[in-house]
Amino acid sequence: MLTRLDALKDYPFDRLIALLAGQQPAPDKAQIPLHVGEPQGACPDFVSEIIAREAASFGKYPSVRGDADYLSAAAEWLTNRFSLPAGTVDPKRNVVAVAGTREALYLIANSAVLRKETKLPAGIKPTVLYPNPLYHIYYGGALGAGAEPVGLPATAETGFAPDFDAVPEEVLDRAALVYLCNPGNPTGAVIGRERLEDMVRRARRHGFLLVVDECYSEIWFDEPPAGGLSAALSAEPDNPSLDNVVVMHSLSKRSGAPGLRVGFTAGGEEAIDDFLMLRNYAAATVPGPLQTAAAALWRDETHVSRNRDHYTTLMAIADEELGAVPGYQRPAAGFFLWLDIAECFGDCETAARRLWTEQGLKVMPGRMMAQPFGHGDETPGDRYVRIALVHDQDTVREICRRIRASAIGNI
Ligand SMILES: Cc1ncc(COP(=O)(O)O)c(C=O)c1O
Repeated sequence: MLTRLDALKDYPFDRLIALLAGQQPAPDKAQIPLHVGEPQGACPDFVSEIIAREAASFGKYPSVRGDADYLSAAAEWLTNRFSLPAGTVDPKRNVVAVAGTREALYLIANSAVLRKETKLPAGIKPTVLYPNPLYHIYYGGALGAGAEPVGLPATAETGFAPDFDAVPEEVLDRAALVYLCNPGNPTGAVIGRERLEDMVRRARRHGFLLVVDECYSEIWFDEPPAGGLSAALSAEPDNPSLDNVVVMHSLSKRSGAPGLRVGFTAGGEEAIDDFLMLRNYAAATVPGPLQTAAAALWRDETHVSRNRDHYTTLMAIADEELGAVPGYQRPAAGFFLWLDIAECFGDCETAARRLWTEQGLKVMPGRMMAQPFGHGDETPGDRYVRIALVHDQDTVREICRRIRASAIGNI
C-alpha cells in the first residue's frame, strides 16, 4: 500500500524530469520551457519603487493577518470585481494576507479538517475532495491534513468540472473541504455561477468548506468568470452570507508577479478564524514592503487589462497556428492549452518526449497532472498535454509552429 510519504514524493515536476532523463532535446532549436505556468512579462515599475521606499519596515515582524491597508485593498478589489454589496467583505474579519496561494491552499486543508473533526463521531476519517486533473497542492493538502483524498473526475464529458451528483452522500457528509479551481488549471474550463451556487448549498448542507481557487480569474477572453463569494451570497437569497466559502486570490498570474509571493484568502468568518489560528503556528507572513507594493497592484487595473490583452493575442495566435491540429481547442480562460494529443501522438508521454526531442519544447504530460480514476492505471489526463502560453508573441508563434510540425507535419 502507498504510504503518505510515497504519495507526496510523486510530484508532477519530478515525474517530468524522470520522463525526459536521457532524452536529448532537438540540437538545432532553442529549448523553451512550457511546463510551468510562470508569466514571462515584467510586473509594473511601481512595485520595485514602493519596495525600495518602504524598505525600513523589513525591520519589523509582519502581522499574521496582514497590514490594514493591504487587507482593505483586497476587500475593495473583491467588492468591485465581483459586484459585492458594500461592506460584505470586512477587511478585519473576512480577509487574510498570504505569501502566495500555494501555501494557503495547502494549510487550509488542515484547519478545515480540524473543524470537521469537531462535528464527526470519533474515529471517522474526514474526506477532502478535489477535481482530477488537478493542481497537486490540493492532494498534498488533503494528505498533509490526514484526510482521505477523493479526486473527482473533471473530463470533457462533464464540461471539465467535477460531477457532484456522482459523489456518494456518505463521502460528502464526511467532507471537511472541497477544492474547486475556477478557471481551472490545467483544463482552462470555467465553472458558471449556477454550478457554484449549487456547490455552496451542498457545502452548507453537508457542513464542509468550499475553497475556490480563483488565481486565474483575471485571465479571461469573453466575460469575467463568476466568483465564489458572489455565489456564496446568491446561493440562498433569503439568507445571504459568506458561510462555508473561501476564495483564494493571487498576484502571481493577474499581475505577472509570481516572485512577489503575495495573495489573499477571503471568506466566511469561521473558516477565516480557524485558518488564522493555524497560521499563528505555521504560516509564512508577508513582509511589510511587499504588502504595500501588493496593495498598489490590487488597486491598479491598467496593468491587468494590458496582461489580459496580451494573453488574448496569444490565444489568437494559437487559434491561427494550431486550429488545423486535430484535438486543438482554445481554453475558456487562463493561459494553459490543454491539448488533446490522442490522434496526433497516441499518448501524453510520447507527445512530451517527441516535443522535447524533435522540437526542444518541454510540456507537461496530462497524466502527471492527474490521478488514476478507477479504471486501472488510466487517468483523465492521459490524452492531453498542458502547455503554458506565457511568452512573448513571436515566441508563442514559434512554439505553436513547432507543435504543429510534430503533430501533423509542416502544412
Ligand atoms: C491553480 C493554481 N492555484 C494556485 C497556484 C499558486 O500560485 P501562487 O502561490 O503563486 O499564488 C497556482 C500556481 O501555479 C495554480 O496554478
